[in-house]
Amino acid sequence: MLNIVLFGAPGTGKGTQSELIIKKYGLHHISTGDILRKEIERKSPLGLQAEKHISAGQLVPDELIIDMLADVLNKNTDAKGYIFDGFPRTIPQAKALDKLLGEREIAITAVLSLKVEEKALIQRLLKRGQESGRADDKLEVIENRMKVYREQTDPLRDFYKKNGKLVNIPGDGTVEEVFEEIVVEIDRLPF
Ligand code: AP5
Ligand code: MG
Repeated sequence: MLNIVLFGAPGTGKGTQSELIIKKYGLHHISTGDILRKEIERKSPLGLQAEKHISAGQLVPDELIIDMLADVLNKNTDAKGYIFDGFPRTIPQAKALDKLLGEREIAITAVLSLKVEEKALIQRLLKRGQESGRADDKLEVIENRMKVYREQTDPLRDFYKKNGKLVNIPGDGTVEEVFEEIVVEIDRLPF
């Protein structure tokens, strides 16, 4: 079973590449950001709680995210494999993911880490903010998302490097170039 974590700072292309990966490999896409935005739209209790964190560019508390993820896994037990996009973002989330997958006798195959210079990321997100209006794509919030990434999420690269799952992928080419690189790396994996 192929289970991929797509890892990277805001704007590195996790969502864009996930769409291409699921088409080619038939995986089930789990984007915690997309799920939270849907909950906000529905004005559910989780959405109402998440909104204040998201609009400030802060992480939603681990307990909420981990419960939400357990729920998604329980509802999609027949998946051929999963792609985790934007999760895990903290060490407790990474440990919880190992536990949740372990209970199902599956494991992460690889963590694909996309890297792009921060200046370019800010430009990408500002452009998206102007075009499609995602509420958190405003300069002040973007800068905070970058800071939160550096402080709370980037350390996870070391966690996955130590357990041998980390695969670095340059994310600054075109969408097609980055995808080609991802395919090369996935096709090399033992699954
Ligand atoms: P989330 O939705 O995960 O957002 P993010 O990490 O800030 O990342 P983005 O979705 O903005 O970027 P992306 O890497 O998916 O890039 P994309 O493909 O869209 O999280 C939002 C918030 O939810 C968080 O701040 C937090 O509050 C909360 N949250 C979510 N998960 C959480 C968790 N696990 N724990 C706690 N809180 C959580 O591309 C970006 C733009 O660039 C697009 O316009 C795209 O068209 C363009 N683009 C993509 N690739 C390229 C390329 N190669 N060249 C040029 N442009 C490109
Ligand atoms: Mg995304």
